[in-house]
Amino acid sequence: MSANLPLSADRLWDDLMAMARIGATAEGGNNRPALSGLDGQARRLLAEWGAAIGLTVSVDRLGNMALRRDGTDPSRRPVLVGSHLDTQPTGGKFDGPYGVLAGLEILRALHESGASTHAPIVLMNWTSEEGCRFSPSMIGAAGAMGVLSEAEVLDRRALDDGERYGDALAATGWAGDADPAALRDAEAYFEAHIEQGPTLEAEGLDLGIVTGGFATERALVTVTGKDSHAGTTPMDMRQDAVLAAAEMIGAGERILYARAPEGRMTVCRFMADPGADGVVPGGARFAFEYRHPDDATLRGLLDEADAAFAEIALRRRVAVVREPYWSFPRVVFDTTLADRLEQAAQRHGARFKRMLSGAGHDAYHAAARMPAVMLFIPCHGGISHHPTESISRDWAEIGLRVLADAVIQTAGLVQDQ
Ligand code: HGY
Ligand code: MN
Ligand code: MN
Repeated sequence: MSANLPLSADRLWDDLMAMARIGATAEGGNNRPALSGLDGQARRLLAEWGAAIGLTVSVDRLGNMALRRDGTDPSRRPVLVGSHLDTQPTGGKFDGPYGVLAGLEILRALHESGASTHAPIVLMNWTSEEGCRFSPSMIGAAGAMGVLSEAEVLDRRALDDGERYGDALAATGWAGDADPAALRDAEAYFEAHIEQGPTLEAEGLDLGIVTGGFATERALVTVTGKDSHAGTTPMDMRQDAVLAAAEMIGAGERILYARAPEGRMTVCRFMADPGADGVVPGGARFAFEYRHPDDATLRGLLDEADAAFAEIALRRRVAVVREPYWSFPRVVFDTTLADRLEQAAQRHGARFKRMLSGAGHDAYHAAARMPAVMLFIPCHGGISHHPTESISRDWAEIGLRVLADAVIQTAGLVQDQ
């Protein structure tokens, strides 16, 4: 497959370092928020790299970028490969860019060799995967795949200052005119990504063939009590929303460890209202999430947490509402594509395992519309969403070569050129 193509791991590494200079932080990571000027710079750099090898760059009305290399067979639908370029505020250099730039390197190698594929290959950069400003995560891919409507995405308000997604996108100059639904009938979607967990490195493996993802539910929990004076109000007269929320969060963690310790739970955001010194907070809001490989177990965790929250609320004389805003069942990726990655890994002598993803990825939404699969490379210490996120050049290379094999095999290399 790609063995004879001039794939260059050095060029991929140089691209990763060049991209990492956009939004570089003093701590060595990246802070490149979605729909910011820095996001615009990253997009421009990718578009320049794509144009230099003859890719046709299109941008849809949600800002998703598609860089297309035509195939020879007009009846074939595109094979997609990509990820995202936006980062968490305390992000690293590789979460997202690895998958985009590995896909770019595959297209560069095809361009340099003059080789053709039967199906077109389209490199994707999905808008706002991280969801840290415009929640939920993977919102650009959600709009493209119809999980959210175009209007729901464009009208989403930023969690920090309430700016409208559509306005922020327009301000970056990257509001395109392509139809976000245009790629829903693609033949396949591949996404290479760092594992963002410790398993592959700890087990001495080079690659993870990702067969699916954890079922997940993230919700905004709103607790409503009553403001009062922090000094004079006797404890038994208080309706302290933050103390109630704290007990709920502790209960949520205890339920997880008691019922499903292999699952995941955290509170990503916590807000106290009014958050003023001297005032017992009458309000608290927090983003509460469970993740688990099994749908029924996740449902059980959520039901148990809801019962605990209600008991705590009654006892503390507060009200509580849990409103899910980022939920999906267990994700199942395509077995044919997973087999193709596995065969490529074997050809390259890579040590690998099949595994699930605990993190959400754009591939989750692609899988709702087309055969999709992911390929993980290890990251040191499993560290991610942190400035010290790092990978080795060897991991970057083996992932590139295996991804290239599977993508090109799926698109079909035109022989006897
Ligand atoms: O899974 C996650 O929370 C990530 O931000 N996609
Ligand atoms: Mn990511
Ligand atoms: Mn991420």
